[in-house]
Amino acid sequence: MNFCQSVTIFVTFSHFWTVISALSNTFLVPNQFIKDGQTLVSPNQTFEVGFFSPGTSQTRYLGIWYKTTPSVIVWVANRDHPLQDSQGLLTLTKNATLLLLDNSTNVIWSSISSSFGANPELQLLDTGNLVIIDKKKSNRESYIWQSFDFPGDTRLPGMLMGESSDTNIELSLTSWKSSDDPSPGEFSYRVENYGLPHLVLSSGNSKVFRSGPWNGIRFNGLPMFPNKAFDNTVFVFDKFRLVSLSDPFNESIVSRLTLNESGSIGRFILDEKKKEWKLVYMIPNNPCDYYGQCGNNSVCNTNVSPNCQCLKGFSPKSQQEWDLLDWSSGCRRNSPLQCKNGDGFLKVLGIKLPDLLLFQLNVNMSIKDCETECLKNCSCVAYADPFVNEGSNGCLMWYGDLVDIREFSAEKSEQNVYIRLPVSELDYAGGRGSSEKKKVPSKVIFIVTGFGLLASILVFAFVVHWNVKRNKTTKNKYDDDHELELPLFSSETIAAATNNFSQANILGQGGFGPVYKGKLSGGQEIAVKRLSKTSRQGVVEFKTEVNLIAKLQHRNLVRLLGSCIQGEERMLIYEFMQNKSLDRFLYDASTKTLLNWPRRFEIMMGISRGLLYLHQDSRLKIIHRDLKTSNILLDNDLNPKISDFGLARIFGGEQPFEETKRVIGTFGYMAPEYAIDGRFSEKSDVFSLGVILLEIISGKENRNFSHPDHHHTLLGHAWLLWNDDRVLELVDENFKPSLVDQPQALRSIHVGLLCVQKLAEDRPTMSSVVFMLGNEGAILPRPEEPGFFMERSRIRCEASGSTFKRSKLGTREDSTTDSLMTITRLVGR
Ligand SMILES: *[C@@H]1O[C@H](CO)[C@@H](O)[C@H](O)[C@H]1NC(C)=O
Ligand SMILES: *[C@@H]1O[C@H](CO)[C@@H](O)[C@H](O)[C@H]1NC(C)=O
Ligand SMILES: *[C@@H]1O[C@H](CO)[C@@H](O)[C@H](O)[C@H]1NC(C)=O
Ligand SMILES: *[C@@H]1O[C@H](CO)[C@@H](O)[C@H](O)[C@H]1NC(C)=O
Ligand SMILES: *[C@@H]1O[C@H](CO)[C@@H](O)[C@H](O)[C@H]1NC(C)=O
Ligand SMILES: *[C@@H]1O[C@H](CO)[C@@H](O)[C@H](O)[C@H]1NC(C)=O
Ligand SMILES: *[C@@H]1O[C@H](CO)[C@@H](O)[C@H](O)[C@H]1NC(C)=O
Ligand SMILES: *[C@@H]1O[C@H](CO)[C@@H](O)[C@H](O)[C@H]1NC(C)=O
Repeated sequence: MNFCQSVTIFVTFSHFWTVISALSNTFLVPNQFIKDGQTLVSPNQTFEVGFFSPGTSQTRYLGIWYKTTPSVIVWVANRDHPLQDSQGLLTLTKNATLLLLDNSTNVIWSSISSSFGANPELQLLDTGNLVIIDKKKSNRESYIWQSFDFPGDTRLPGMLMGESSDTNIELSLTSWKSSDDPSPGEFSYRVENYGLPHLVLSSGNSKVFRSGPWNGIRFNGLPMFPNKAFDNTVFVFDKFRLVSLSDPFNESIVSRLTLNESGSIGRFILDEKKKEWKLVYMIPNNPCDYYGQCGNNSVCNTNVSPNCQCLKGFSPKSQQEWDLLDWSSGCRRNSPLQCKNGDGFLKVLGIKLPDLLLFQLNVNMSIKDCETECLKNCSCVAYADPFVNEGSNGCLMWYGDLVDIREFSAEKSEQNVYIRLPVSELDYAGGRGSSEKKKVPSKVIFIVTGFGLLASILVFAFVVHWNVKRNKTTKNKYDDDHELELPLFSSETIAAATNNFSQANILGQGGFGPVYKGKLSGGQEIAVKRLSKTSRQGVVEFKTEVNLIAKLQHRNLVRLLGSCIQGEERMLIYEFMQNKSLDRFLYDASTKTLLNWPRRFEIMMGISRGLLYLHQDSRLKIIHRDLKTSNILLDNDLNPKISDFGLARIFGGEQPFEETKRVIGTFGYMAPEYAIDGRFSEKSDVFSLGVILLEIISGKENRNFSHPDHHHTLLGHAWLLWNDDRVLELVDENFKPSLVDQPQALRSIHVGLLCVQKLAEDRPTMSSVVFMLGNEGAILPRPEEPGFFMERSRIRCEASGSTFKRSKLGTREDSTTDSLMTITRLVGR
């Protein structure tokens, strides 16, 4: 350490800045200065303070950074007032004011601190705190000024957040405007304290994330770590009131919490050897972190899909929006509260408590009294014990809407809330959507507020009835909820089973990767789908997704037996289907005869039921997005089983697959709105199903369909026949007409045409499809023109002409058509 190598100058009046000082010092005394290019460093060389330009900016700021990683700026003095050139100076006055001066000694920024008669000295501590101390005082911990009182976008260990006990200033983080501009941006992260404190990340005035209220031990909406070193925040109380928090300073761990310009909070630790910052956690990190993600009166849970569920006793305000995964309008009560005439409470376990918008807190009331208190006021909609520590009392009551509730796995949160419901809603059978909720509350409490004898008897009867019913439902729920963790196979096992992924074992090449046949050492035959490496999912997400998909069980779906994860490799292990896929059967002359009409009809019904289950009956709504005959497998008894469902989820939303930038899907089966605009929905699956129905009926492929008289696809051909009232001609000509149930065939074609209609909204839902196919008496609407109804050759030859030659169908002597065919080639679509 070099003492006093800075040259003393007199800031006040003399301006002869000609002297040069050493590059780095550890402190500054009055009338010394550092200029741009010089720095102060902390004693152990951890931090450095000096001038810098952020990002691509040319302007200069005074800031503090890590000496090992100078690009990480933890504090900026003149956030709003950049220096225009490199002639800035930092100096300390005798009165303990820190001044930042520009090239003409104008004060650009000042610490606004002062202490007359002190012996001030500016020091940068190893904590990253820039402080002015009074050397006359024995207590060096009491600073005249400290940068920790003026946080920027970074919270360092030892730095308070909340209220500073001595100065009463609020300490919060504010993001930079951009990586080039440290002036305060739109995001802030602060302790809000209206009764019960919580941490809130906001963008302007709107909340982005909320930690949940202080529960006596922690904020349960914040990430928790097994390693205490990152998770031992110190909370400071004033009597019962939490006023601030900080992370303890620990020599051996260099860590920081940064709110970046995009509004994302990251906790980082420095790997000292590699000089690399590791992200320990990030907020927001998943959909449920976002404030009010699921709208009002709903619960967000990352372990179920979709993440949003209405609270029990509530249903979506707009089912239509909800179906489109737009949760913003939230949920409303199925039936109004009865107030004094019989309301009860439903205990919901393991949650982040609703936001404290309209609430009352009484810290001296027991939870039992809280219940009674809540019932007294008709507008009280829920109550909870805000504190989870043993022996503590407290009563928190909510009024109005319940906002931003999150459900955790039980081990993560010990916090419960009691939701007020009319007694009628406390039945299990009640409530759409909410009855899907996976958690069966352990206990429901009834409180009868009307004390008439009759009411008591009625409620008693109801309770008995409900308990009987509940036991039954509970059992079913658990059967089907059974948390079976799907087996994880080692890649060695799979390699051995597939003869080291031998070419000879390849069963097919699906959109998401090749499928191999395999045999486990026990003799069981399996099909192994080796996913192409474009899945961006990490191990945890992949496992979650696979476990969700494994829960989809239906006789018309291929069963998933397990998965395999090794490095980047992701594989799915399915039951093996002896008879391979439907397309191989249907388009092969030697096997197609096995599929007689009744069998084909059963196959159509089976596929439709499987798809209905995916769309509506399972707890996950799955849109297949790549339904085609090669994805329908046949078992020994020729029962159809849909495969490859759920893969679109593993490959994530709109992401392209493989190297091509195509949407997931196969031409010939894709609905126009999906093929052209990439918009998919249940109705795009219905379109694909319609193509499959028509292919099964005709025994012909839509894509490769050709007809001597026109250049339409199979769909177009069916449409022409429909309009000519000759639609039964579509049925596979290999069938003896006497062996075809003609009304059934007619109905099937009709349903097929309804499914492939051009406009998604005209197409039926899967439940209608199953109904219409299976019911002779069903009255079917007239189909509209199918999607892609254009003659393929015409598109090429006559840009303007899209008229179809209905009248010419089947008139083979028409020479124009024949000559057209000779000069055009079919265009692959
Ligand atoms: C500097 O580091 C040494 C060893 O790492 C430690 O013993 C000492 O307490 C540190 N000094 C300060 C001021 O942090
Ligand atoms: C000081 O900086 C300003 C720009 O901010 C410039 O116009 C001026 O010439 C500079 N003065 C000196 C003495 O360098
Ligand atoms: C220090 O404070 C005294 C008393 O307020 C004032 O007279 C003097 O001008 C100040 N000096 C400086 C350098 O600011
Ligand atoms: C500092 O961190 C180290 C490493 O995690 C740990 O062993 C030690 O107990 C911590 N010290 C304090 C004072 O928390
Ligand atoms: C910071 O911002 C970028 C986007 O600019 C984002 O990708 C990153 O994950 C953010 N979060 C953290 C904690 O760095
Ligand atoms: C959700 O609840 C809040 C608070 O009661 C209310 O201000 C807001 O309008 C509600 N939003 C909707 C979509 O109902
Ligand atoms: C709660 O109880 C404590 C101690 O028993 C008492 O000091 C305090 O005033 C009470 N608070 C309220 C709001 O009644
Ligand atoms: C019920 O509680 C609300 C909110 O605290 C309050 O405004 C209202 O006056 C109360 N009503 C009764 C009848 O106590």
